[in-house]
Amino acid sequence: MKNVGVIGTGYVGLTHGAILAEKGNNVICYDIDREKIERLHKGQIPIYEPGLEQLVRKNLGEQRLEFTTNKDFCIKESDILFICVNTPPKQSTGGLRKADLSYVEHAARDIAEKMNGYKIVVDKSTVPIRTGEKIYETLKKFHPPHNFDVVSNPEFLREGRAVEDSMNPDRIVIGVMRDGEGNLLETPLENMRELYQNFNTKIVETDIWSAELIKLAANAYLANQVSFINKIAELCAATGADVSEVAKGMRLDRRIGQYAFLNAGIGFGGSCFPKDIESLHNIMMEEQINPELLKQVLEVNNAQKYYFLKMIEEGLWTIRDKQIAALGLAFKPDTDDMREAPSIEIVNKLNDEGAKVRVYDPKAMEQARSHFGDNVTYAKNLEEAVIGTDAIVLITEWDEFKNMDLESTKKMMNTPANFFDGRNVFNPKKMSEIGFYYYSIGRPHIEPRKENKKQ
Ligand code: UDX
Repeated sequence: MKNVGVIGTGYVGLTHGAILAEKGNNVICYDIDREKIERLHKGQIPIYEPGLEQLVRKNLGEQRLEFTTNKDFCIKESDILFICVNTPPKQSTGGLRKADLSYVEHAARDIAEKMNGYKIVVDKSTVPIRTGEKIYETLKKFHPPHNFDVVSNPEFLREGRAVEDSMNPDRIVIGVMRDGEGNLLETPLENMRELYQNFNTKIVETDIWSAELIKLAANAYLANQVSFINKIAELCAATGADVSEVAKGMRLDRRIGQYAFLNAGIGFGGSCFPKDIESLHNIMMEEQINPELLKQVLEVNNAQKYYFLKMIEEGLWTIRDKQIAALGLAFKPDTDDMREAPSIEIVNKLNDEGAKVRVYDPKAMEQARSHFGDNVTYAKNLEEAVIGTDAIVLITEWDEFKNMDLESTKKMMNTPANFFDGRNVFNPKKMSEIGFYYYSIGRPHIEPRKENKKQ
């Protein structure tokens, strides 16, 4: 059992704090945001993440988890301190964006100023490589007695599955510094091993820089798969092949595997993939390594939204005054996060073209308002979104949409009923039988079966 402090209660910090408490540690989570901490005290979590609220409530009740706005208290009471603050992309005037590390720096300075004994300072925020080194230098500068170790322990959780992924991670990566003879430092390693001893998974013990790079490289690799299959989808559309069949055949190769990120669609979003690739790209530039491969991944991803918009335009001929239901606004299902979500650009463009857009998402409606303001209509439910529309534009593949009653949806829509499926959720043949003009990514477009055309 360890005394753990977590600085920052966003997706990563809150989940990690709750999981470590669940595993029997004493955890104090600090955040600067008073209102958020007050809500957390009551067991109300500020984000939608399946299973997290129950976990937080349980561990609050069992007094292994507490929330505070008192930085001193969090730092002084903890032996291991996790930095889980936000590292948003900085606006850039040209080229690719860099991560804003000012919150990480502040956290390191705070720890240095307040620490009252040996501390292990662990970076868990997603950061460019060499941030661990900067944290180390900052601690040294502001805390001359040098009674600390720095560790990189990157987070691999997926939003929407944060609890599941954190309870059963594929691996735990622990990066520590080396001593003068090149050996990994034993004290921080030993402490981190103990902290994670109840997790039934492989632990990768390595140096800080490699640990940081494992995270960035893994995300860039997965994003690369998404852009790769999207490019193949474009080729499928041009030649009449079916990208779902291609991906199915590819996945059977054990070197590719059934979990490969080969679902063609309208591209990736979220707080990690775009930012991490940009980060890796920038590091390569700094090291004078050609980063073209990574740039292409981003370019293909950006183009994907426009490819989808072009498909909508071709299907509807003109967009002005068409009634369109945009389904799914979060960047992926099971989260309310709209950071870098493809929906933002797609809905805005449809709106600019003069469509009457009705939006609906099971969890991200509040976030949607800050992006679309008064430019769209906010539907209260799926039915309200689709009734009397000329087209459905499916952007995020929530289960609610996958399981929708297609027959009655078709009846509620105007004729002809157009369905633009940005995530290849439905079976084209079935959609044609029901009477839709059905368009999806990298698969042949389907017209309604003759007898259903006029229904
Ligand atoms: C990702 C990493 O998976 C996780 O390990 C890391 O900690 C954070 O970044 P996340 O962004 O939550 O997690 O979602 P993920 O499920 O990986 O999907 C990322 C994006 O890729 C989503 O926009 C998703 O729609 C898209 N995607 C994923 C595809 O378009 N096709 C696929 O086959 C898989």
